[in-house]
Amino acid sequence: MFSILKKIGLLKPQAHQQSQATLPTIQVDMHSHLLPAIDDGSKSIEESLQLIQCLVQLGYRKLITTPHIMSDFYKNTPEIIDTKLKELQKALQDQQIAVEIEAAAEYYFDEWFIRQVRNGDKLLTFGDNYLLFETNFYNKPAQLFEVIFDLQSQGYKPVFAHPERYIYLQSDFKILEKIAERGVFLQLNLNSLSGYYDKPAQDFAEKMLDRKFVHFVGSDCHSSRHIEALKRTQTKKSFAKLAEFELLNNTL
Ligand SMILES: [Fe+2]
Repeated sequence: MFSILKKIGLLKPQAHQQSQATLPTIQVDMHSHLLPAIDDGSKSIEESLQLIQCLVQLGYRKLITTPHIMSDFYKNTPEIIDTKLKELQKALQDQQIAVEIEAAAEYYFDEWFIRQVRNGDKLLTFGDNYLLFETNFYNKPAQLFEVIFDLQSQGYKPVFAHPERYIYLQSDFKILEKIAERGVFLQLNLNSLSGYYDKPAQDFAEKMLDRKFVHFVGSDCHSSRHIEALKRTQTKKSFAKLAEFELLNNTL
């Protein structure tokens, strides 16, 4: 997979720029919760506009926002997400905020998701048919590899959201190796690099960098707390290491 990635030229962050308050070289974000009142992210259109303005100031020119789809809490459908996206796009236009915004989803790996995959339902994707998913934080889903295979058989390119945050991976790196071997793309949360979540996630994020197990990075922005954390993240040496990566973000 990396030989293919090497062919893709991307702007790279410069180590000497780490003290600057911008992210000039990661111009596309592909994981956030910016649609108003649809999940545990932005609570209102005003908050969405404020968060987006901050992200633009940090250097993003395009935002692919990914509301949760989770049967227990957030029963979002493509129709609900599209309606909210159009509402937000109109507000951005009215406020003359220049940014490109699209929506996909962050699918939680539950029975509802598995059923949709098995039924061949149309799932929300971004870019080149990338599909973002997350799992339970504590236990590896029993059907993880089977469903990954099903998704790939249908032409989807699964992207595993923030592997560094799962306890079952932190205790067994081999599972992540197996996931990567199956051609799953790995998305690191930028704020894991500054210890925003916890120390085990930060340590695991650094291990992923050392092993070059990162294809995308995401803000996973839910609120202004994540914006403030992103500013801190940019000052970290581990953030500067991303200069060595040929991230797929800017291809989107
Ligand atoms: Fe998320």
